[in-house]
Amino acid sequence: MNNLNNHTAIITGASKGIGKSIAFKLAENGADLILLSRTKSLLKVVKNQILDKFNVKVSYHIADTGDFKSINKLFSEITANNERVDILVNNAGVTKDNILARMSEEDWDSVINTNLKGYFNCCKAVIKQMMKQKFGRIINISSIIGLNGNSGQINYAASKSGIIGLTKSLSKEVGSRNITVNAIAPGFIQTEMTDKLSQKDKDSFLKSIALKRFGKSEDIANLVSFLASDKAAYITGQIIKIDGGIN
Ligand SMILES: NC(=O)c1ccc[n+]([C@@H]2O[C@H](COP(=O)([O-])OP(=O)(O)OC[C@H]3O[C@@H](n4cnc5c(N)ncnc54)[C@H](O)[C@@H]3O)[C@@H](O)[C@H]2O)c1
Repeated sequence: MNNLNNHTAIITGASKGIGKSIAFKLAENGADLILLSRTKSLLKVVKNQILDKFNVKVSYHIADTGDFKSINKLFSEITANNERVDILVNNAGVTKDNILARMSEEDWDSVINTNLKGYFNCCKAVIKQMMKQKFGRIINISSIIGLNGNSGQINYAASKSGIIGLTKSLSKEVGSRNITVNAIAPGFIQTEMTDKLSQKDKDSFLKSIALKRFGKSEDIANLVSFLASDKAAYITGQIIKIDGGIN
């Protein structure tokens, strides 16, 4: 158990998949939650499911993390009256896969916009409050693809590598304010994002995994909870793989 009582966490992309599991895990450990995503109906369900199980505060907002102005406005409202934000989990992400020869400019731009600029937008919108508090935990969900690359995913790989550079650099900027910034690089985790891959691709991924099975979103949530806790106070600027041992 990681004690996150009296901590408030913003989680992006919390309506399903990994983000939803992170929301449940942080609530289980006592954190109050502010959930962001694009789909109101799903966020409402997540909020109610969490309130049924845990004694924490939960609110949600419809947001496009790639939209600088609206993220800035939303975070200003959240931190009005000096409200604390202790934890930011940047998780919202998309894929639009194709080989370079067939990739459109739109598919490049939209993946970079959500997956990389979206993380910049949320970090920028929260950092002044965390600096004022002299406390913060930023956890960025990258991907093993950002480390290894993957045919058919140059846009996704570039965005996920970009997150690694962002994480390492920001950790150096804000460490003196007691703010840690780390990234998690998941391997193949069973969610809607990976459900849409072909069986052929799934089989070929599986062969490269030492544990011979895909991961669960809870595997990622457990590490997020640890990195957000006091137990991880001396860990910053790290990229931690959770991939079942991909060679
Ligand atoms: N599933 C995997 O195997 C895997 C592996 C490595 C990394 N990741 C990363 O983990 C994160 C979560 O992936 P997942 O598998 O749970 O995906 P998912 O498709 O199940 O969920 C993605 C979430 O992000 C939200 N989202 C997408 N674009 C958004 C935007 N512009 N603004 C706000 N919210 C937005 C969606 O509404 C949804 O809540 C992503 O960053 C993904 O790249 C996933």
